[in-house]
Amino acid sequence: MKMAHAYRDKLVVGNWKMHGNTLENQARFDALRGHVRRYTETVKIAVCVPFPYLPQAERGLHQSGISWGTQDVSPHAHGAYTGEVSADMAREFGARYVIVGHSERRAYHSESATEIAMKARRALESGLTPIVCVGESLEERELDRTNDVVASQLNTVLDSLSVYERLQLVFAYEPVWAIGTGRTASPAQAQDVHAHIRTLLVSRDRELVNLSILYGGSVKAGNAENLFAETDIDGALVGGASLDPVEFTGICAAAHQAAQK
Ligand code: 13P
Repeated sequence: MKMAHAYRDKLVVGNWKMHGNTLENQARFDALRGHVRRYTETVKIAVCVPFPYLPQAERGLHQSGISWGTQDVSPHAHGAYTGEVSADMAREFGARYVIVGHSERRAYHSESATEIAMKARRALESGLTPIVCVGESLEERELDRTNDVVASQLNTVLDSLSVYERLQLVFAYEPVWAIGTGRTASPAQAQDVHAHIRTLLVSRDRELVNLSILYGGSVKAGNAENLFAETDIDGALVGGASLDPVEFTGICAAAHQAAQK
């Protein structure tokens, strides 16, 4: 499948995690159509929903300019893998993005770097854009290992892909200590790691300079503007605040403002 190469797209993605039900989702889809849609000319916007709600996302966001996706995908194409959901299945319901290697999956499901690389590859083969999450724990940061941890996570994925495939990736820097804790990395802390990621990407292939790198970890309407003002932060992967339409709209509005500068 032919896909356009990214060019530092501004991108805001909501990760709903394991929240919602059909009633609550409908209210969120309506709010996205009503309030967030206006920013889609300058910002790519998406929500990654639990698997059973893909058909509802497809109905709820149809022709809204807002995309939808999943929070994980099987590393296999098909077969006897009880409980798994393939990238092709997600595509059947119009999914565009898939979050790969989220720290909650690395931690609670023991996902290895190799498995994450396989998931990214499988997603690309089905025409999904993988949002590959990287990030250090608090202990790793305190031991000054942030750059090494991020480099190793990133390189395992890049190693398994062709240059053409690498050009379709989106990265998300999510420091584990900032997820769901209310403790955001300062814009300068996030920028340091984003710049490191971009340098790593460019050292692999010059063309990768234009990949979008999102920040994730307690992003809210109130701190988005300062984060998006940093040179290498192209958008956000938003957990808790993506469930609140007012907050999520505020984050998309901040990305829209940043895109116009
Ligand atoms: P919070 O925004 O709730 O900190 O979650 C971030 C995250 O994990 C997004 O994938």
